Amino acid sequence: MTVMAENPLREGLSEERRPDPCTLVIFGASGDLTRRKLLPALYSLYRDQLLPENFAVVGFARSAKEREVFAEAMKDGCDAFARRRPVDGASWSNFAGRLYYVAGNFDQVEDYKKLHQAFDKIDEERGTKGNRIFYLATPPDYFEHILTNLGASGLVTPPSKLGPTTRVIIEKPFGHDLASARHLNEIVHTVFDESQVYRIDHYLGKETVQNILVFRFGNGIFEPVWNQKYVDHVELTVAESIGVEGRGNYFETAGILRDIVQNHMLQFLALTAMEPPVAFEADAVRDEKVKVLRTIRLQPPAAAASHSIRAQYAPGSISGAPVPGYREESGVAHDSKVETYVALRLYIDNWRWAGVPFYLRAGKRLPKRVSEIAIHFKSPPHTMFRSVGQSMLEPNLLSMRIQPDEGIALKFDSKVPGPTVRIRPVNMEFRYGTSFGQEPPEAYERLILDCMLGDSTLFTRSDEIEAAWKFISGIHEGWEASNSPVASYPAGSWGPKESDQMLLDEGHEWRRL
Ligand code: BG6
Repeated sequence: MTVMAENPLREGLSEERRPDPCTLVIFGASGDLTRRKLLPALYSLYRDQLLPENFAVVGFARSAKEREVFAEAMKDGCDAFARRRPVDGASWSNFAGRLYYVAGNFDQVEDYKKLHQAFDKIDEERGTKGNRIFYLATPPDYFEHILTNLGASGLVTPPSKLGPTTRVIIEKPFGHDLASARHLNEIVHTVFDESQVYRIDHYLGKETVQNILVFRFGNGIFEPVWNQKYVDHVELTVAESIGVEGRGNYFETAGILRDIVQNHMLQFLALTAMEPPVAFEADAVRDEKVKVLRTIRLQPPAAAASHSIRAQYAPGSISGAPVPGYREESGVAHDSKVETYVALRLYIDNWRWAGVPFYLRAGKRLPKRVSEIAIHFKSPPHTMFRSVGQSMLEPNLLSMRIQPDEGIALKFDSKVPGPTVRIRPVNMEFRYGTSFGQEPPEAYERLILDCMLGDSTLFTRSDEIEAAWKFISGIHEGWEASNSPVASYPAGSWGPKESDQMLLDEGHEWRRL
């Protein structure tokens, strides 16, 4: 078919994979996420002909504004952030014709009646057939109001194979700790069936994160060595050079453990460590993820300080330019103890990973933006090259670069050409850019499309989110109970010395990235 030939993203996509008609309602339509990520993702999907012919988007937010004004603001967002740019005249006007706006307060149930009216009109104008997706992109304080009001105003239909579908996408943070996540799950389940719920973690929409599954389970040669027999330790890094970027108020209530580790990092830890699922299907994959999250060893509060390092950035410089410390950022308390860097050592207590330390680090204002997973293999049991003076061989290392410079590299030792035996490590590399020669879709594109298709494989299930929170809340409790110190690191450095020491004590060191 011509469409498939013209558009590589449609390759291998049968017509059945095209979503059914639907209306997507975005709560929090005036927010940054909508302008920077959601609308640009929808526009790029539209340009790639991946959306159903009959679809509409309704922005729902507090401020009163005309539909045209909303569309204009979204155009600016797409102009600046869409993968498919420039935003072209004809395609934009067709797309903009599908944008609607409803002004309302999230916590006032009467305002939801306006959505009923809008749906009647849209179903008629756009043929969206009563299928709805509600996207909760507001600050988390509103989630409970919105969910309750959606239920109370009769906007949610129960799951059914024949009738119209209703789904809900819920942004992060989903809860603040284990108790609040459980509470939110209860509210969600009073209104929606779990099969209708899509808790989003945009890292799961990243190609490189999905590729962990393909790399591990689509190939025969890696899985046999993916265990405690061959792996010495595993290192996971999410480093960012940005600071809190005007989100000081939010960050004060979160800290990096909640902001990055609870969701993004535990998700790719789960994909790295889980057992092979029986099928690439939502529940099969999520069953295995939840199992591994539940086997992360919970440390007693008194051990918090020896298994985790928390720290805050002090003034420093990024790429030569001076930047303020965390406590000088707007919205941040002068005596704040909130961490902008965390390093953890954890163990997964199962047959596969017994005794293998997993080191996780995440930080703001580190020297560069880089996320990767590094599997450090054990050395060969016997070094026969000792007899020719080569006793210090470097163990094999497999690094999976999540971003940027997406790819996978395997480091192994090789003989340096010449008359004597000299050995040095070399790299075998795969890079997305060179191998596929095409720009990968944005994470949000993939996830919104999957939700439209009713595929929740790349979304977090209720039990998974609770398992993740159980581990994270345990660390917070440990910090609280032991009053563990908050270390400091200059902005632009690779974190506090305490974090280096935690690894050095076990004969390891963080990779220099
Ligand atoms: C968000 C966090 O979830 O992820 C931000 O709230 C962080 O603090 C961002 O900067 C990182 O996402 P990405 O896709 O840029 O790695």
